[in-house]
Amino acid sequence: MSLAADKRAATTRDGDAPTSWDLDAIREDFPILQQQVHGVPLAYLDNAATSQKPTAVIDAVADFYRHDNANVHRAVHALAERATLGYEAARERVGHWINAAAASEVVFLRGTTEAINLLANGLGAGWRSGDRVVLTTMEHHANIVPWHLLRERAGIEIAVLPVTEAGELDLDALPGLLDGRTRLLALTHVSNVLGTINPVAEAVRIAHAHGVPVLVDGAQALAHQRVDVQALDCDFYAFSGHKMFGPTGIGVLYGKAERLAALPPWQGGGEMIRRVTFEKIRFADPPQRFEAGTQNFAGAIGLAAAIDYLAGLDADAMAGHEQALLRYATERLEAIPGLRIIGRAAHKAPLLSFLVDGVHAHDMGTLLDRKGVAVRTGHHCAMPLMDFYGVPATTRASLAFYNSLDEIDRLADAIDYARGVLA
Ligand code: ALA
Repeated sequence: MSLAADKRAATTRDGDAPTSWDLDAIREDFPILQQQVHGVPLAYLDNAATSQKPTAVIDAVADFYRHDNANVHRAVHALAERATLGYEAARERVGHWINAAAASEVVFLRGTTEAINLLANGLGAGWRSGDRVVLTTMEHHANIVPWHLLRERAGIEIAVLPVTEAGELDLDALPGLLDGRTRLLALTHVSNVLGTINPVAEAVRIAHAHGVPVLVDGAQALAHQRVDVQALDCDFYAFSGHKMFGPTGIGVLYGKAERLAALPPWQGGGEMIRRVTFEKIRFADPPQRFEAGTQNFAGAIGLAAAIDYLAGLDADAMAGHEQALLRYATERLEAIPGLRIIGRAAHKAPLLSFLVDGVHAHDMGTLLDRKGVAVRTGHHCAMPLMDFYGVPATTRASLAFYNSLDEIDRLADAIDYARGVLA
């Protein structure tokens, strides 16, 4: 599609058309987007770090605190009952959204990072020196550091599936890494630096053919696409509420029932047990076994509200809008002299990491902010990937369905301004 046609397609406001995307109405759902920063309208392009929240989510959390707040699974009074019902309904909602076989396959945790730490501890408890986890070059530190810690504790081996220069996984190399000692393949669904959407179902198929289970880091995926864990056939899938328009401090570890049943507890505390004496403890079944102490039940209810919000959007129209944004942003940025985009995968989420000759990423971020354009700069918690590309940092514009083509224009103009000041 041409640039101009893209712009038209993405700004169509015909409510009857199946692919319409009423951007103005959608933006009104997000109060934070209405503000000005430094005297100009905010262009929030840092969605991979955290996404903004619709009024429906803000209200769901506020209403819970206003009307229903009580601890869950503990008392029998009216508020406790309402809170418990809300929390368990949220679990059902999440399970249904990702097509888990049962709600009990949904463990509420702090986020993706905690979910991967849980697995490194729980799975790792049974691993021995020489056992192997396979990661990929494009992993976030959240899916690297927990395995490092396990290597220090248990002497396991970390093998790395390479990426190509374009930023795609080299799946042909995967079978060669899955030896008889390989205990897990742990890979990201969508790269937070490159935007690459990985062929996760294919990776799972290869790993399973070698008898290796798979953990998918879905932190960057659910803001952009529907995820069906049964179709992917992954053994574990981790994600965070705050990156999918829900609250901070709530996330999910999905695990196939038999996988969760085989995991030892992660943290000890209240409500994850059946019976405690000073001599012996019997643990609760999953998911409660992994939910020690007072949980972020308000966050879970907010996450369910975010899912309700997403469910109300036309998924095809949303994908069409996001891809139009990506194409338009790619064309606009490619036209800027001295700008290099890192991450040229065929299948990408709407995210662009780039470098500009003569301009350090942090200076770029500061100057873009002056123009009201919010981006992230740095290594993006993916230092091995930065090393692969031989760069210390990039500037990253990460888009969401509420971003507009005008905001892309403002990004491109602000980059030009920064080049004028610095390059
Ligand atoms: N993982 C988040 C990011 O990529 C924080 O920005």
